[in-house]
Amino acid sequence: MNTEEIIRTFVEYFEERGHRRITGSTLLPPPGDPVLFTTSGMHPLTPYLEGKPHELGRRLVNVQRCLRTTDVDEVGDPTHLTVFEMLGTWSLGDYEGPQSLVWGYELLTEGLGVDPGLIHATVFGGDEQVGPDTDSLRVWQEFGVPVELTVEDNWWSNGPTGPCGPDSEIFVWTGDTPPRSTPTRDDRWVEVWNHVMMRHRRLPDGSLVPLPQRNIDTGLGLERLASLLQGKNSVFECDVFTPWRDLVPSLWDLDEPSLRIVCDHLRSAIVVIGDGVRPGNTGRDYVLRRLVRRALTVLWRDDPSPHLGDLPGELVRHTLDHFRQTTDPDEVRGVLLDEEQRFRRLLQRGRQVLARPRFQGPLDEEDLHYLHDTHGLPRDLVLSLRSLGWS
Ligand code: SER
Repeated sequence: MNTEEIIRTFVEYFEERGHRRITGSTLLPPPGDPVLFTTSGMHPLTPYLEGKPHELGRRLVNVQRCLRTTDVDEVGDPTHLTVFEMLGTWSLGDYEGPQSLVWGYELLTEGLGVDPGLIHATVFGGDEQVGPDTDSLRVWQEFGVPVELTVEDNWWSNGPTGPCGPDSEIFVWTGDTPPRSTPTRDDRWVEVWNHVMMRHRRLPDGSLVPLPQRNIDTGLGLERLASLLQGKNSVFECDVFTPWRDLVPSLWDLDEPSLRIVCDHLRSAIVVIGDGVRPGNTGRDYVLRRLVRRALTVLWRDDPSPHLGDLPGELVRHTLDHFRQTTDPDEVRGVLLDEEQRFRRLLQRGRQVLARPRFQGPLDEEDLHYLHDTHGLPRDLVLSLRSLGWS
């Protein structure tokens, strides 16, 4: 099943159960929102989770592109991407958690063909503020699915304050052996679908108050599920990355971890540019700058000749089309090339400064501050130069 088929199966399953499909938003949250990027499918729905009536009713389904910088250091492992898509369902004060889990289990096993023997669930075990989630526990026990109880790992929130609640996560076994151990002890259990009982609001003093309605918010990582269903060992091998894997290795000589990082970061940068962001020194502009520069730092590790101008226009177009973005691919390439040039010039200047005797040997915090304040060389850049062995 390719990702388009997974999306169709998912959306139709929930439409048959009274959900209306909503259009996913861009990666940019509405003005005034404190987060830089949409990090979860629920994010654009916050006002509705807090009680505002949604024009399409109380049951919603969608596909939302998300960007998480918190996971950027994990990129390259089998499961993390910077930009990914989340299939989501919502009950806005309508059905409760057990119904959501029953549908989730049925869709995964019957609709998508996941072997029930490879599923493990986790459930909120309770803390001093909220009791254990016995409703979810009961559902899993009735299905005969093994359950692990946790506390922090089964509490979902979008930030320190705001809507939050206990969750129940569904994991699928990816090991070569029969399943063993539990999700917190063995990372061959891969989380695919999170069902959040979003019924609390956390206040700045840490206390919890009930939201005006009891919601369900679920999110399923599309590329993770696709790689499992396609029998692949990593998200980088699912169909979303096929054109990247077909084209990039013939352009640049990269080992597997570097190939993954370069593909993830360049693909993410294209989507972010497609959503209207341009590289800069603050906020989301800086995130974009870092993505491009991290990709270049990996690309230039052994050889400074790779050039983003070599990136086939086809990859830019494929990515923009996938996310239904209408930005001109040449404009996106132009932004990438400008940023590459700027980075090369900066590295050149940084190299000259770092060649001075004072900077031979390890750099301490004082050196890093001095290089930044006096020579305008940001810490990341200095560390890139060092990691490239260019200084
Ligand atoms: N908000 C939850 C998550 O991101 C479920 O969608 O995991």
